[in-house]
Amino acid sequence: MKIFAIDTSCDETSVAILNGRRVIGNVISSQIDLHKKWGGVVPDIARNAHKETLPKAVKQAFKRAGVTEKDIDCVAVTYGPGLAIALEVGLQYAKSFAISYGKKFVAVNHIEGHLLSGLLLNRKGSGIIKESENLHSLFPALGMVISGSHTDLVKLGCIDKYELLGETLDDAVGEAFDKVARMLNLGYPGGPIITSFAEKFRKKNKRKYFDVRSFKRFATFKLPVTMERSGDLNFSYSGLKTACLYKIKKLRESAVTDKEWVYEFCSEFIDAVSYSLLVKIESAIKANPDIKTFFLGGGVISNKYILGDILRLVRSHGLKAIYPEKTFRTDNAAMIGLAVGLNIENKSACVLENKEEISDIERVPVLSF
Ligand code: KG4
Ligand code: ZN
Repeated sequence: MKIFAIDTSCDETSVAILNGRRVIGNVISSQIDLHKKWGGVVPDIARNAHKETLPKAVKQAFKRAGVTEKDIDCVAVTYGPGLAIALEVGLQYAKSFAISYGKKFVAVNHIEGHLLSGLLLNRKGSGIIKESENLHSLFPALGMVISGSHTDLVKLGCIDKYELLGETLDDAVGEAFDKVARMLNLGYPGGPIITSFAEKFRKKNKRKYFDVRSFKRFATFKLPVTMERSGDLNFSYSGLKTACLYKIKKLRESAVTDKEWVYEFCSEFIDAVSYSLLVKIESAIKANPDIKTFFLGGGVISNKYILGDILRLVRSHGLKAIYPEKTFRTDNAAMIGLAVGLNIENKSACVLENKEEISDIERVPVLSF
């Protein structure tokens, strides 16, 4: 089955064509340069850029896939969560496409896309989970989505059977990265910049510990691990953010330039975040001895240190980790097409074929999982 997918939930205009789990055409047009000077995503700028870029991106994706409109079986699009006026652009385009070409239409939750993104295969069919593998053998599973707007720990009974075990009570992990980067005057988006600063520190100075779980003993700035003993599987990053604010103020009072401490600070911030995730992941694994695999997705797994820490923990419990290659960690339409394809196969997709039903679908900017 060939699926044409669109995601315009935030600041990436993304289009993909899939053949089963294989991504045969993929275009991700990032708007980072447009938003950079404002220090974050500006909704109006995002909408206008999506409007301008989407038709070109669609053309390019079809060309790369070597297919035409008539080859498509189904249109998949993100309807939430995300920026309302940005979601609207992709949704309208997908609806008109499905109606004018008489295609099936499925609207998807963006977070389900991130959660399942590890099942994507490249054009040649390679990926973490082989094309020939029976996906039923992967479940039950645990999954985590860490992105700019979500920090979710989920139990997956199978495709479409999800139980939210824990979530952030305030900021998402990616949001904490972006906000702390702003405090440090490092620019936007914060995640990649903080990572590159941490890398500078770690390359120069050997890390004083092998396992992130011993970082507290050696920490220089003593950043807090929020919610460590909360007794549940929820997360919170506002405390860490406030602690960073005070710590940075103090450091600036005593040092001549930020350069004296900022690289190590970034490194330690990553460890504080990583540790906070590992504590909950380990509790969830222990409480769910029936699980077979661990799904991982979202922009923050682009952080090689955090990804590495999670992979080590998950594998130490004998679990296979299912996570996407670099291109599909941040926002992309391929994961949206994948989620639709898997749900169709599982007979759990809400497939619309009728013009009126398709027209009635609306964006849901605040959509829980
Ligand atoms: O999944 P995503 O593209 O969008 C949402 O659905 O939110 O995630 C974007 C988030 C941003 O907050 C960004 O700072 C973070 O992912 N991010 C990173 C890294 N690369 C992107 N966070 C930490 N380290 C990175 N290397
Ligand atoms: Zn996302």
